Amino acid sequence: MTESRLDDLTARAPGLRLLTELADLIHYGRDWTRRWGPAPLAVALPSTVAEVQTIVRWANERQVSLVPSGGRTGLSGGAVAARGELVLSLERMNRVLGFDATDRLLEVEAGITLQAVHEAARSHGLLYPVDFAARGSCTIGGNVATNAGGIRVIRYGTTREWIGGLTVVAGNGELLELNRGLVKNSSGYDLRQLMIGSEGTLGVVVGVQLKLADPPPPVQTMLLALPHMDALMQVFGLFRTQLKLQAFEFFTDVALGHVLAHGAKRALDANQPYYVVAEYDAPDDRDEQAALLAFEEGVREGWISDGVIAQSEAQAAALWRLREGITESLAPRKPYKNDIALRISAMPAFLHEMQALLAREYPRMEVVWFGHIGDGNLHINVLPPGDMAQAEFLAHCERVTRLLADALQRHGGSISAEHGIGLVKKPYLGSTRSAAEIALMRGVRQVCDPNGILNPGKLFD
Ligand code: MLT
Ligand code: ZN
Repeated sequence: MTESRLDDLTARAPGLRLLTELADLIHYGRDWTRRWGPAPLAVALPSTVAEVQTIVRWANERQVSLVPSGGRTGLSGGAVAARGELVLSLERMNRVLGFDATDRLLEVEAGITLQAVHEAARSHGLLYPVDFAARGSCTIGGNVATNAGGIRVIRYGTTREWIGGLTVVAGNGELLELNRGLVKNSSGYDLRQLMIGSEGTLGVVVGVQLKLADPPPPVQTMLLALPHMDALMQVFGLFRTQLKLQAFEFFTDVALGHVLAHGAKRALDANQPYYVVAEYDAPDDRDEQAALLAFEEGVREGWISDGVIAQSEAQAAALWRLREGITESLAPRKPYKNDIALRISAMPAFLHEMQALLAREYPRMEVVWFGHIGDGNLHINVLPPGDMAQAEFLAHCERVTRLLADALQRHGGSISAEHGIGLVKKPYLGSTRSAAEIALMRGVRQVCDPNGILNPGKLFD
């Protein structure tokens, strides 16, 4: 049965590369969550849009589920293939297709890595501003699927802001050119925006027109140590009014401990409970002066206990490593991840409630907080104690996440800021979206993918 379905696909697309070796099924069937045992039917590696269309049409006829796949660096199980699906990997479709200097649009295939996009933009003297630690492995198609955010959202917004157009293979195999790079286009529903963040459930993104920006002025990077949690938002308020921030990222001493154990170098002597990496525009002496004044004011107020400004690019990179190295340093412990969002105004009250909740509910577990606090986005990673079975650990974390979701609902927040819902957050979607919203989303999905072949089981059932 399995064989005949794949034989049929090969007959329809003779040049299509198909992988069925166990090692490939494992490699392509999982993402960074490592929670589900990968079990795809096979892996297809198309190299043309026409091949993607053939796969989608075949999947409809043969009732095979598809899992669109980028770099699989996702943290919510959105690219997991654990139920006999065909993985549709875009990794061979990774070319830069063109650049238009007048429109400042870079046209790429969906399987290109974020880092290759950065390099292409730089080669034209411009900037693609979405950025985060997985840049070398994640792909633009995956970034679109989750509306990826990262470390400079505070200045540039999320992926959504930078998509001028999308080429999408619809659920029935037809090709859609959405928005075509237009700056203004008030002609009905913006289907491009609907696709962004849809986690591969409404169509397969095969091409992307990316808007590029002017490169930033010279920037400075500062590491701050803070004596207590309230200081986080106080320093943010201060810095936001005095400086032109590019990034404002925080982590705790617990997170720092893991990154240092993983090979990063300590930048400040004494330990403090909270740290911030702030990056700000500093084209001339006046900006540097403003940063020093803001720092001194923070010290006077008792919100900052120590700090250092990078004196070179290498030092700036070393400070960034303290923040960007956290995910990698925790990965061997298989953390349970929360990725929550709140309005910045709701953050101070929420932080206190959350701190009490986590201390009460995770007495035996190490809880690592960090993230994009300037965007109202916190990452809470929980590490299992060595003597606890994985199933017991997950069940415990899921019970606490239910409490967290209730708290978020009360504070008007979201259960996913930038990682997506995928499989991991599916049970909690109702805490962020109303029943009426979810019913509409179901209706949209049904229209775009009537046979239910596009990433079934992700986002909602
Ligand atoms: C990050 O910002 O480093 C990741 O999105 C967070 C995580 O690994 O939980
Ligand atoms: Zn993040």
